[in-house]
Parts: sequence; structure tokens; C-alpha cells
Amino acid sequence: MNYEKVLLSPGGPAVSPIVTGVMKWGLWGRQMGTTQMLHLIEASVEAGATTFDHADIYGHYTTEAEFGAALKNRPELRSRIQLVTKCGICLPGPHRQYGLKHYDTSAAHIRRSTEQSLRNLHTDYIDLLLIHRPDPLMHPQEVAETFEALRSEGKVLHFGVSNFSPAQLETLAAFTPVVTNQVQANAMHLAPFSDGTFDQCLQKGIRPMAWAPLGGERFFTHPDDPQVSRVRTACETIAASREGIHSDQVMLAFLLRHPAGIVPVIGTGNAERIQSSMKALDIRLSREEWFSIWTASSGREVD
Ligand SMILES: NC(=O)c1ccc[n+]([C@@H]2O[C@H](COP(=O)([O-])OP(=O)(O)OC[C@H]3O[C@@H](n4cnc5c(N)ncnc54)[C@H](OP(=O)(O)O)[C@@H]3O)[C@@H](O)[C@H]2O)c1
Repeated sequence: MNYEKVLLSPGGPAVSPIVTGVMKWGLWGRQMGTTQMLHLIEASVEAGATTFDHADIYGHYTTEAEFGAALKNRPELRSRIQLVTKCGICLPGPHRQYGLKHYDTSAAHIRRSTEQSLRNLHTDYIDLLLIHRPDPLMHPQEVAETFEALRSEGKVLHFGVSNFSPAQLETLAAFTPVVTNQVQANAMHLAPFSDGTFDQCLQKGIRPMAWAPLGGERFFTHPDDPQVSRVRTACETIAASREGIHSDQVMLAFLLRHPAGIVPVIGTGNAERIQSSMKALDIRLSREEWFSIWTASSGREVD
């Protein structure tokens, strides 16, 4: 399907309106082989989800390379897809000898991680690089200079952040263009709607990306959780009032209805679910429907 791409910011990257996250495609989830991964990349592109969300650490530093090995079999796909990846978390484990989990946004770390991501993904350029978590030791000027160098070398086209507070984003944005803030947002996690995160995106004209748009499977695995149960009922009621719509599509439509132009990053490893998620783009919730989910989630009527 051909869904029109959306600009994350003026002059920023054009991404698919729903992005496919690959965090659980490898060691941290489905443990797909190369053929299966290629099949899923193709299915995602076919469905119109042409942008893929990575991080250096996924699968304990193995998933990027597995995705890259799959992509190597169809190099012509590269010009049809957009690759997002992240750096800044240092995760101890079998592939890294760190003494403890920590953050590193030094020039040396950003450069080393980016160059490894380029090798892993078998690509000459990354469309969008995000700083994965706010680092209390981050020096914005050092980050800005590193971004500028990577941009001028053609290695990364655009830069953004993830899990940053509005103040943290503002600080970095004073030194370098920031095209998005990728944050956790879903019908059970409403904080960014009211803590200034989405307001700042509106103010700056940047689209937020929403990770765990279905609550990271909580919606399906914890049906007895009181909040989940209320949200499920609200979403199922809306789904039942429209033909051929499921409650998980309504969960995505809840995010898509927001004026900041939220781009959900879905985490499924199932081709049919990628396809059906895209149908959420055709659902426009009424205000009353939207507030029925909000009310169900917060457990009380708005003031
Ligand atoms: N920036 C950050 O700090 C950060 C943090 C976490 C994640 N992320 C990104 O966000 C992406 C999505 O995160 P997420 O995986 O938490 O997202 P999610 O889309 O909220 O949850 C995906 C999970 O829900 C399951 N699921 C989806 N539809 C289902 C259905 N109809 N029935 C039963 N189960 C269903 C999936 O299982 P199936 O595979 O079986 O469909 C998968 O395990 C990640 O891949 C990653 O790229 C970013």
C-alpha cells in the first residue's frame, strides 16, 4: 500500500506514518533467521510501513547486524526504506565489556556507535539517529559538533532524541536541529499528553514518535489489570461501532488523532499485524470517542 510519508519536522526526514520497530525481531523476542527477517521487511514495505526503528543495543547489540544481513540480500530495498537507529546507552553483556549500564553521549561514543551501526546495517547512511536516553553528563555543544561532522560526512541525514523531557530537548535544540522526540505513549500511558512533551512538539513543529503504542503488549497480556480492562472495553466499544475494525487499531487511532502528528512505532513481529496496523490511519476518532479512552485510562471523568 502506498501511504503518504510524513515529515518529522520542516526540512526533516520523511518517514512512513506508522514505523516498524524491530526491538523484538531478534534475540530480545522472536529470534528470526535471515529469511524470516527479510520476509518481514518486505511485508512491512509492502504494507506501507517503510521506516524501521532500531537501536545499537537491541538484541544485546545483535539485531542491527541481523537486519543488515537480511537487507544485503535485497540491496535495492535500501532506497525504498528509511532507517532510524539510536545510541547513547552502554549495556554490559556478552558483546560489550562495560562494568555497569550507563549512558554515554560523548563525541567518541556517538561516532563509534554510528559507524558500527552503518557496518551492521550494510548501509552508507542512516536516515535518523536518536540519542536514546537523556544523559546527565551530556554536553550539548559536543553532541551538536558530532552531529554536524556525521552530517557533513553523509553518514547521518537527520538527528533527534528519545525519552527527553521538554527542557532537555530545548537545551539540545539550542545547539543543533532536533527533528523528533521518541517517547513512550499509548492509551495506558498518558504522561506525554500533559507533561509538556507533546505541547513542545506542537510549538516547535516537530512530530513525536510513540514507542510501545499498544503498551508493549500489556494490552494483550494483562487483560485483568483494571486500567487495561477499562481501556480494552472502551476500545472494543469503538471498534464494534465500525465495520472490520479491531481494538488494537483503535489504540493506534487514539495516538493518530492528536494534533502533534504522533508517529506510532509498532513492535509486532507479525506481517499481518503490520498490515492491519496501517488501517488505523483510516480511522478518525470523534472527540467523544477519544475522551472515552482517556476517561477509561485515567479512571475518572475529566474535570
Ligand atoms: N526509544 C525507546 O526508548 C524505545 C523503548 C522501547 C521500544 N522502542 C521501539 O518501539 C517499538 C515498539 O515497542 P513495543 O514492542 O513495546 O510496542 P507495542 O507495539 O506496544 O507492543 C508490541 C507487542 O505487542 C504484541 N501484539 C501486537 N498486536 C497484538 C495482538 N493483536 N495480539 C496480541 N499481541 C499483540 C506484539 O506481539 P507479536 O509480535 O506477536 O505481534 C509485541 O510483543 C520497538 O520495537 C522499538 O523499536 C523504543
